[in-house]
Amino acid sequence: MIKKALFTTMLAFAMGSVGSLAFAEDVLISTHNTSMLLRANEGESLKIAYYGARIDRDEIAQVWQSGLAFNRAAYPSFNTNLLDEPALEVEHADGSISLDLAVVNVTRKTTDKGEEVRILSRDKVYPFEVVNCYRSYTNSDIIEMWSEISHKEKKGEVKLMQFASAYMPIHGDQVWVSHLHGCWANEANLFEEPLTAGMMVIKNRDGVRNGMSDIPEVMLSLDGRPAELSGRVIGAALCYSGNYKLRIDTDRDGKFLHHFIAGIDETASQYFLKAGETFVTPEVAFTYSTEGKSGVSRNFHRWARLDGKLHNGTAPRDVLLNSWEGVYFDVDTERITKLIDGAAELGGELFVMDDGWFASKKYRRLSDNAALGDWTVDREKLPDGLQPLIDHAKAKGLKFGIWIEPEMANWKSSELYDKHPDWILQYPGREPLLGRGGTQVVLDLSNPEVQDFVFSVVDNLMTEYPEIAYMKWDANASIINYGSPYLPKDRQSHIYIEYHKGLRNVVERIRAKYPNLVLQACASGGARAGYGTLPYFDEFWTSDDTDALQRIYMQWGMSMFYPAAAMASHVSTVPNHQTGRVVPLKFRFDVAMQGRLGIEMRPSDFTAEELAFAKQAVTDYKRLRTLIQQGDLYRLRSPYEGKGDVASLMYVSPDKQKAIFYGYKLKHFAGHTVPPFRMAGLDPDKNYRLHELNVNDEGMKSMEGTVISGHLLMSQGLKLILDKEYSSRVFELTAID
Ligand code: GLA
Repeated sequence: MIKKALFTTMLAFAMGSVGSLAFAEDVLISTHNTSMLLRANEGESLKIAYYGARIDRDEIAQVWQSGLAFNRAAYPSFNTNLLDEPALEVEHADGSISLDLAVVNVTRKTTDKGEEVRILSRDKVYPFEVVNCYRSYTNSDIIEMWSEISHKEKKGEVKLMQFASAYMPIHGDQVWVSHLHGCWANEANLFEEPLTAGMMVIKNRDGVRNGMSDIPEVMLSLDGRPAELSGRVIGAALCYSGNYKLRIDTDRDGKFLHHFIAGIDETASQYFLKAGETFVTPEVAFTYSTEGKSGVSRNFHRWARLDGKLHNGTAPRDVLLNSWEGVYFDVDTERITKLIDGAAELGGELFVMDDGWFASKKYRRLSDNAALGDWTVDREKLPDGLQPLIDHAKAKGLKFGIWIEPEMANWKSSELYDKHPDWILQYPGREPLLGRGGTQVVLDLSNPEVQDFVFSVVDNLMTEYPEIAYMKWDANASIINYGSPYLPKDRQSHIYIEYHKGLRNVVERIRAKYPNLVLQACASGGARAGYGTLPYFDEFWTSDDTDALQRIYMQWGMSMFYPAAAMASHVSTVPNHQTGRVVPLKFRFDVAMQGRLGIEMRPSDFTAEELAFAKQAVTDYKRLRTLIQQGDLYRLRSPYEGKGDVASLMYVSPDKQKAIFYGYKLKHFAGHTVPPFRMAGLDPDKNYRLHELNVNDEGMKSMEGTVISGHLLMSQGLKLILDKEYSSRVFELTAID
């Protein structure tokens, strides 16, 4: 048996081509450092046997013989096992809820990025099928899993009641989960806890912004309390922009086995599947590292940048100035011109005009309660329109960007709503519940006409002003009115799903026509950071909170899953508009230079000395941006751990020739000593020259030019003076051999 299994697997690998194998047995799917093993015996339920460090084909038998194999249903369905959490639960056309899937065949094909494996299972009685799909990558240690569900039942539709993307068993009695949780202006806080008896659920039901509160990604540390640089960790990311549910159910027999199930949240979302239609679930991307949480982060970041999960992932990101905190809604030609001039003087490359620039005949955008949906220039504020601003920016060497929020309208205070009252989501027969500004409502994206409209917001602007280089695409409301005037009465439970299908159609059309337009995903801040969105967007707005201290925690959280290239991070004024905190300009730049650097204030508020400092910081950032945006991240000292008084992290270039180190003092108590910062990811055999960045104090020059070996920096570290609250140090390291 085993021999035959090895042969078929080897054959599939050796052929590396499309081929349907009627009888496949052990299916090994591997990346450079990881493997997943499935058992696909024809006529039996598909089993998952292994996921973890890469194994070779001759170790397949050993996995089984050693008792290590999970041997669990790879896609547990209700009724074949009534006791465990199901990934799939359906009601057949005849009302029965029984399901017993058996493998029919396995298909493998190589793709330009790796390999795709599809395993078809069919119910033993009903003409109901599931294809469990797996995609592995050659560039990154990621295996994506998803499911495709279809049927040919003659009696009518099948009701999908639970339809998760994938299931993964996790072995271990010391498994900890790391996940992100937060709210507006306080996104992506890191929470970590051991898995114990019972079920843990991470979910989002915002309808629109699925990173609001929780983010659909987790890490599972297998060796006890999670560590950044060591230990076995599994990472999982659900690639979906809508409502989701991640479940981790600890097995009945104690703490040793945990069932992880991820997919679309089925609440108010039962799906009626027609005969011949295929329901394709979103992918869940799994990764595994023996280098701790930072190792898992690096795997996700690499996949995002190199495998198309972050739009234009390897393109350098521009330094920009955004008008929001500088002028809010008080956009006018003079103020915007002044901001453009300031951005140019700082060395910026892009200027973005935020909210407040549009109006219709009847409604003006003077605050958040009107004109949303009326995407024409407010001629009272900008009498000559956008072109002179775009030209002025160009003359100053800057690209031009603009804010839009195309999925929304203001109720009874926008021409869009006046013209199309049936374009908004609303409970039939009830007054709508209203969001931001007491008037905001969400458009019904299940309606193709609404999709066309949303597309036209971008398309019209690009047609009229082809030089627009960047759009900040915002989304500031949830689906709180659950009713679609477009969908039939018996399809109302498809609203959440159809909304996101509609959104995807739109962004796919935009990408087909405007592949180089830079799009920022903003959702009242960071609520659209996620791998359902980022394949179409170049970055996300991390948070409306620009306070550098709070950003340390939020950026730390976001960095667990998303690369620095995607993380918009802006220097703003003091006192900070969200927290009132006053922190030094150096600290603000040091924090913002961890991600895609931007400025979110009036440059005219800088003193001459501050301006000189800011200009130098921008120059240095531009010189080092490839290292920061594309480098390998090593998180060193967590702000969430210990006394919580320091944080530090670094990026290292893949060839280990360059690195940038960041160290921050978050709170200061007399007598607290800060132990040396031990670095990571360097080449122990190389010597590195230190150059301190963002120097604002002569005393900081003591280490300038010092040469220290990678070995010493990693084993002993660097002792740094951080003697005040909000002291910070940033070093550029260059290998000199
Ligand atoms: C949201 C965004 C902000 C800003 C405003 C404009 O709150 O998160 O950055 O663009 O909208 O109204």
